[in-house]
Amino acid sequence: MSDALDDQTIFGRYDASGMAGRVGRVATQLREGWAQTRRLTLPAPYREATAVIVLGMGGSAVGADLVRGVFADRLRVPLVVVRDYRLPAFAGPSTLVVASSHSGATEETLAGAAEALERRCPVAVITSGGPLAETATRDALPLLRFEPESQPRAAVGWSVALLAGLLERAGHLALADVEIEAAAEQAERRHAACAPGVSTAANEAKQLAWSLVERLPVVVGGGHLAPVARRWKTQLNENAKSWAIADELPEATHNTVAGILQPDSLREHLFAVVLASPDDHPRTALRGELLAALLGEAGTAHARVAIEGSGPLAQAFDAIILGDLVSVYLARLYGLDPTPVEAIDAVKRRLAEA
Ligand code: F6R
Repeated sequence: MSDALDDQTIFGRYDASGMAGRVGRVATQLREGWAQTRRLTLPAPYREATAVIVLGMGGSAVGADLVRGVFADRLRVPLVVVRDYRLPAFAGPSTLVVASSHSGATEETLAGAAEALERRCPVAVITSGGPLAETATRDALPLLRFEPESQPRAAVGWSVALLAGLLERAGHLALADVEIEAAAEQAERRHAACAPGVSTAANEAKQLAWSLVERLPVVVGGGHLAPVARRWKTQLNENAKSWAIADELPEATHNTVAGILQPDSLREHLFAVVLASPDDHPRTALRGELLAALLGEAGTAHARVAIEGSGPLAQAFDAIILGDLVSVYLARLYGLDPTPVEAIDAVKRRLAEA
């Protein structure tokens, strides 16, 4: 039996810019982004840095969250993601600052990059153009550039591969070609399994979208899947134009779990997705099971979603593609085009006028 998500003509009309297809471009971005960084050589201050700051907002910050979370056990220096105008006090000549902005025009990122240059930090740039690319050219900074294809959030393969590749070239991260390839292949597999042409009966992303419609999504993940939970939240916000909450394990079992009863009237309007990986810490996995059981007792609908892939990066991209497609299908169920983000554009416009 087919349903509203299976009618390709109607689906194509809502998804006029083809966001469902763009989700699948991530695999190519990973491969091409990584290949681009193989040609990079970095001066000594970049290699000798004792900490890394990544400046970015929204879709241009998520890559840094992912690199920090997925490679937490092998990054040789601390990595801090700054989503703000100002740098933390510790930033100085031994801090590598990476300014990441799809448009190259995001004011928080530009302000942070200017401050980093004033403080004599080694600065590198990831962008598709704009004032940030001009700064990089003017100051002869390492510049990793990619072609803008769609929205910043659809460039997550570029953000992850370019940042991870830069850190690998600087000697701050051990990462092999095969891991990038495994992630790209897993992304392709998940996209094929959950593509618009696969009917709801056999399509996990469509099934989850149906579960989330008219409900407030709460997405929970631990370890390398914690930044993925946040990615789901932001994709549900920007593609489906829906409220969404992200939470992290094991922390959620130390506070959130106590707060799932009130408001009483809200419980039946929530849907919790608990991401589960075969590589979760065993106690984190158990905590995820316990959280799901308590949600069940509280009468809140939920699903534990099994994430696949060999290695943490492949698993992260498996979960990202699933979540991205869920958000696109949910947009369809709300009768919305997933691509435009008029609210974000309006905020930027009004800020520019102020
Ligand atoms: C839009 C999106 C936003 C932007 C953010 C920063 O698709 O994802 O979250 O990423 O407004 O803009 P950029 O990425 O141009 O620095």
